[in-house]
Amino acid sequence: MPILAVNVDHVATLRQARLGREPEPVTAAHLAEMAGARAIIVHLREDRRHIQDRDVALLRQMLKTRLHLEMAATPEMHRLALGIKPDMVCLVPEKRQELTTEGGLNCVGREEELAKFLAPLHDTGIGSSLFIDADPDQIRAAKDAGAQYIEIHTGAYADAPTPKDQQRELAKVVEGIRLGRELGLKVNLGHGLNYDNVWAFAKVPGVSEYSIGHSIISRAVLTGITEAVEKMAGIIRGFVD
Ligand code: PXP
Repeated sequence: MPILAVNVDHVATLRQARLGREPEPVTAAHLAEMAGARAIIVHLREDRRHIQDRDVALLRQMLKTRLHLEMAATPEMHRLALGIKPDMVCLVPEKRQELTTEGGLNCVGREEELAKFLAPLHDTGIGSSLFIDADPDQIRAAKDAGAQYIEIHTGAYADAPTPKDQQRELAKVVEGIRLGRELGLKVNLGHGLNYDNVWAFAKVPGVSEYSIGHSIISRAVLTGITEAVEKMAGIIRGFVD
């Protein structure tokens, strides 16, 4: 049965907007676990725009489920991952100017380099995943690089401009899942999945994990507004004229 892995990066985005102490992504991660998340994901970016090193260290100590660390394949992140020992790392491409991870990692022609990067992580008991487009060449290259999982980038499906484009992108993802499984890889899906478009995978077998962040945090902000405003209005109502 597939699991839900919740990405809490954007709780940290809100905190970093004031460079303050709230909202606390570790608290969000606990609540997500209590609500049914079976893994917590954070992306420690090179520019530290949202998640900070201390968040990853605290999550490692406090999570009851699993910690999945998204990161670029850089020497700095390699050293950090070996120290933190997340349950899994997911290698993603990273560009400083991008708003979010815009495309999959290119694995073709980099199989040996990636295998060398992953081997010490595997030796330490850390699982591995490569975030790639639903492209057969990338899937085969990920297998050759020795990854245990692939995460197929669902952004092209989620952001498709027309229903026809969306069907075409969905078919690519479904074929990618099939090929990945045939090659003996475990397959996760992520990026741009929301309460409307995730349904397309309800009857698609072979997915281990759905990695979802933005839509969940966005909904949480809105569903929490009423309680938050009522609480503050109640306090203000109690003030003297
Ligand atoms: N998977 C990967 C590799 C990502 O980089 C992201 C975005 O941080 C996600 C999944 C989650 O995407 P979203 O926030 O759109 O749900």
